[in-house]
Amino acid sequence: MTQSFRITLLPGDGIGPEIMAVTVDVLKAVGSRLNLAFEFQEALIGGIAIDEAGSPLPEETLAQCRQSDAVLLAAIGGYKWDTLPRHLRPETGLLGLRAGLGLFANLRPATILPQLIDASSLKREVVEGVDIMVVRELTGGIYFGEPKGIFATEMGEKRGVNTMAYTESEIDRIGRVAFETAQKRSGRLCSVDKANVLEVSQLWRDRITALSADYPDIELSHLYVDNAAMQLVRWPKQFDTIVTGNLFGDILSDAAAMLTGSIGMLPSASLGADGPGVFEPVHGSAPDIAGQDKANPLAQVLSAAMMLRYGLNQPEAANMIETSVLSVLDQGYRTGDIMADGMTAVGCKAMGEALLKTLA
Ligand code: IPM
Ligand code: MG
Repeated sequence: MTQSFRITLLPGDGIGPEIMAVTVDVLKAVGSRLNLAFEFQEALIGGIAIDEAGSPLPEETLAQCRQSDAVLLAAIGGYKWDTLPRHLRPETGLLGLRAGLGLFANLRPATILPQLIDASSLKREVVEGVDIMVVRELTGGIYFGEPKGIFATEMGEKRGVNTMAYTESEIDRIGRVAFETAQKRSGRLCSVDKANVLEVSQLWRDRITALSADYPDIELSHLYVDNAAMQLVRWPKQFDTIVTGNLFGDILSDAAAMLTGSIGMLPSASLGADGPGVFEPVHGSAPDIAGQDKANPLAQVLSAAMMLRYGLNQPEAANMIETSVLSVLDQGYRTGDIMADGMTAVGCKAMGEALLKTLA
């Protein structure tokens, strides 16, 4: 029997449409091999949505996402929209999508592939074998806390304000996702905060510590965020699963991503308590190379694999995609961001064709 899934595609801006096109072809190929039918429907988000519908997250987009089984997002943003007022920025659309779908848990794996060790800026012995999962809280913290805004003081001066706030229940639900993620991995969890300075972090640390009583099989540690940033580049192999708040997770996941050589390789999954998840590459829209067939589509393709694994419960299809990515790397195909001596330079489309060949 054919299983059928409704997928909302959000190609967005910059290199988004190019890497999405490759990924859709890959999904179709996997679907036809495993008897899975995908019903794809495109919708607008980000800069293109501002241009075509006057809002970075049109209501129809959110409604359509809610009705689908999963959402595959490419990337948003570009120079063109950087000077618009905040409510009209592409980033506001992305934050609205996360909040609108209740996607509080963001899983960002940083796994170094043996084929790409030399693409890392760190020494081989430091990065070889690195396999980290950053669990980032995604709908709270300073990104969403109130009050926020730019206000006038009594002295007539402007004052910019954001608020870093977490409730116990917000910490507990992301904490449980993190403990359960660590259970499926090596059983080590490091919680990152700034409890030496921030009250919100003290509560975070207290709750994560309290939760650990329910997970006696997990070895829990805590680090301050400044130390965690240093440890990530000093000796990343000490980490397995990391759990942290929205802002610290934004920063640390970029650093963790770069350990692997290129941020162009890394997928992510954003999940809520129920309803569809959003699956997207960690990298941005790379407007500098958009439309030139230079982009690396592999993070987007691997995001589709995460969609199959975490969103649609199709591990076999996810494995098939991941194996095909390893296979094209073994065959020596490299986009510019991961190019090395003796390898075959390809563009976005040719990388897609190589993937399809391994899936045929
Ligand atoms: C990310 C991005 C976003 C974030 C931006 C584009 C709003 O940097 O997904 O990490 O800060 O969360
Ligand atoms: Mg970021």
